Amino acid sequence: MQIIERIEPLRLALEEPRRGGKGIALVPTMGALHEGHLALVDRARERAHTVVMSLFVNPLQFGPNEDFARYPRDREGDARLAESRRVDFLFAPQPDELYRAGRAISVVPAALASRWDGASRPGHFTGVLTVVAKLFNIVQPDVAVFGQKDIQQAMLIRAMVRDLDFPIRVVVAPTVREKDGVALSSRNAYLSAVDRKRARVLSRALFAMRDAFDAGETSSAALETLGNTVVGAEPTVKLEYLAVMDAVSLEPAPIATAGTLVAIAARVGTTRLIDNIILGDPDPIG
Ligand code: PAF
Repeated sequence: MQIIERIEPLRLALEEPRRGGKGIALVPTMGALHEGHLALVDRARERAHTVVMSLFVNPLQFGPNEDFARYPRDREGDARLAESRRVDFLFAPQPDELYRAGRAISVVPAALASRWDGASRPGHFTGVLTVVAKLFNIVQPDVAVFGQKDIQQAMLIRAMVRDLDFPIRVVVAPTVREKDGVALSSRNAYLSAVDRKRARVLSRALFAMRDAFDAGETSSAALETLGNTVVGAEPTVKLEYLAVMDAVSLEPAPIATAGTLVAIAARVGTTRLIDNIILGDPDPIG
């Protein structure tokens, strides 16, 4: 694996694999890698001969009171993990390599970005789309792989690819979970032992809603009431939203069908966690 910090050397290094024509896949990350990220690498490897992972804690997508400064950083550990999964190129730029003085352009998403996570994180998705557009232009991959846990991000990236005509296939890979159901997330590292146990309530609520759907309940209101009750049993967990929605438009869906998304965001202690599942169909959006 080559670790490359600058744009031009990366472009040069990718010339040969590009000429080979066997496909280049990009896995964008902010580091603090865990098995969820490595599963994205596996997905990328299924679709392309060359896998590029980017490792960049993107200041643009953090609000002023968010966790940019304390976001977990472990470049050496990340490099070891990436190499263990046969990443070919690890692109790890410094902020001034991606954001030069006088930067004037951002990618600003439309309405979809101002609800759900966008409602509590104004500007977040502008930061995400701006950096992802830059990474797409730098790497020019055939395929880019993102995790389903950040479903709103993945759907906005798909919309950007469609609306700005990037010739890139966006693959959304299923969420990887701990044995107790908690979705893997770099932010789980912030949780105290007690909060880590409390965090189980997010997936517990989603799974209860999925079980009720499997048993025949299709009213989203009834499913949401059930999920709210499950979360309510853990009073210190502060629910931000728990909603049944269309998996692509992310519009609320009054009736749940196979392929409908159920998404949750909640604060566990001081940590904001998100999770989601698709009802019925195991992989309708990949
Ligand atoms: O999902 C993430 O880790 C980030 O939002 C991404 C896509 C790497 C952009 O910084």
